[in-house]
Amino acid sequence: MKSLYYILFFGIFNSVYFLVICQNVPSPRREQSSTLVGTRLYFFGGTISSTITVNEVWYLDLSSSFNISTPPWHSDVAMPVGDIFGTSCLSPIDNSTVFLIGGRMRIVNTRNFSYTSSVYRFDSKNSLWTTPTINNFNSSFQARNEMQAVIDNDGKIFVFGGINTGNDDNITTTAYNDMSILDITTMIWSTQTQSQFVLVNVDYTATLLPSGLIVYVGGRGSSTASLNNISQIQIFDTKSYTWSTKSASGSTIASRVSHSAVLTQNGNIIIYGGSTINTTKIGYVFSDIAVLNTNSWAWSVPNVSGTGAPPLTEHSAEIYKNYMILAFGN
Ligand SMILES: *[C@@H]1O[C@H](CO)[C@@H](O)[C@H](O)[C@H]1NC(C)=O
Ligand SMILES: *[C@@H]1O[C@H](CO)[C@@H](O)[C@H](O)[C@H]1NC(C)=O
Ligand SMILES: *[C@@H]1O[C@H](CO)[C@@H](O)[C@H](O)[C@H]1NC(C)=O
Ligand SMILES: *[C@@H]1O[C@H](CO)[C@@H](O)[C@H](O)[C@H]1NC(C)=O
Ligand SMILES: *[C@@H]1O[C@H](CO)[C@@H](O)[C@H](O)[C@H]1NC(C)=O
Ligand SMILES: *[C@@H]1O[C@H](CO)[C@@H](O)[C@H](O)[C@H]1NC(C)=O
Ligand SMILES: *[C@@H]1O[C@H](CO)[C@@H](O)[C@H](O)[C@H]1NC(C)=O
Ligand SMILES: *[C@@H]1O[C@H](CO)[C@@H](O)[C@H](O)[C@H]1NC(C)=O
Repeated sequence: MKSLYYILFFGIFNSVYFLVICQNVPSPRREQSSTLVGTRLYFFGGTISSTITVNEVWYLDLSSSFNISTPPWHSDVAMPVGDIFGTSCLSPIDNSTVFLIGGRMRIVNTRNFSYTSSVYRFDSKNSLWTTPTINNFNSSFQARNEMQAVIDNDGKIFVFGGINTGNDDNITTTAYNDMSILDITTMIWSTQTQSQFVLVNVDYTATLLPSGLIVYVGGRGSSTASLNNISQIQIFDTKSYTWSTKSASGSTIASRVSHSAVLTQNGNIIIYGGSTINTTKIGYVFSDIAVLNTNSWAWSVPNVSGTGAPPLTEHSAEIYKNYMILAFGN
């Protein structure tokens, strides 16, 4: 075991306590997306009740230390659409523009699906949202959700699989194993359908390694299928556009969906929480930490001290310095 297990940890939970002490705090939510921009940890959208999808943008200011009972919340300009189960990533070209991609995008203050765009652009310096023009957009991506995007150093966004979810919208429910690629330097969209065998995957985590490999952990096959085996790890090489699978060794980790993952400096992927599926609903919700070593492809369970976070699924996690910051969730 390496020394990385001195992980300091704190959760920002759905506490009513915060509402009592201060009004300028976000209400409890789940299914939001998050992106770290410098010292600001942004959260986009989310569900605040079974029927309300918000277009709120909040950030935590991490520029100085704080008491976790009073996290330094700030609200930012709201998004043009409400969004849940979407994904967001930061432009490496300017380190300040965030792209919000997919999810169940809804017309603000309605339950109606928004068909305006599947991608929105947020200029975090000027608090400005715009709708980019995308060349060759593939309309089959419309209403795609429950997936996680990564962006490489050249500005290529890779979004694997996901599902087009119907609910009260007129969209057919289909789960995918395609790779959607948006090059933010040209705004050209392309879809790579698989010539190799690749499992359909929904509600997984995606982690880009410095080597250019994207590591997909956990997830499920489709709305009715069972969980994908968390020890069978699908890997996409962003240099050669090829897939491979690693059978992870080490500890037995329960397969799951809607967990979170972060990458440490020394190449370990730390996952937290998530859940099993009971028919179509959330089953057992996890509160464990597991570590995947991406050199040996072995899972391990670290010894963690301090007060743990509660069971969480559909939450966010980002890594800032030595802190894995968990926020919101179900
Ligand atoms: C953090 O805030 C709580 C509640 O106000 C307080 O009880 C606690 O002492 C504070 N902790 C530190 C380290 O200041
Ligand atoms: C963006 O951030 C990365 C990582 O911190 C850094 O290597 C890069 O130089 C930054 N680029 C710009 C344009 O600031
Ligand atoms: C939302 O959908 C309903 C039912 O189709 C429609 O009557 C209503 O006008 C829509 N509202 C907006 C703001 O599009
Ligand atoms: C149904 O979906 C299509 C896009 O696939 C959209 O253009 C249309 O407005 C939707 N209709 C309703 C009633 O929501
Ligand atoms: C659009 O995406 C669908 C679903 O992955 C795929 O079957 C189709 O080939 C794509 N179209 C283009 C033009 O890439
Ligand atoms: C999951 O994959 C691991 C690693 O290959 C294997 O040992 C295990 O039996 C698999 N679990 C199931 C339920 O198939
Ligand atoms: C699945 O959900 C049903 C209905 O809510 C419940 O009765 C059952 O105990 C659940 N099973 C598991 C394994 O959680
Ligand atoms: C965790 O602690 C137990 C008992 O102190 C020890 O046996 C085990 O090896 C430790 N595990 C790790 C991963 O350090």
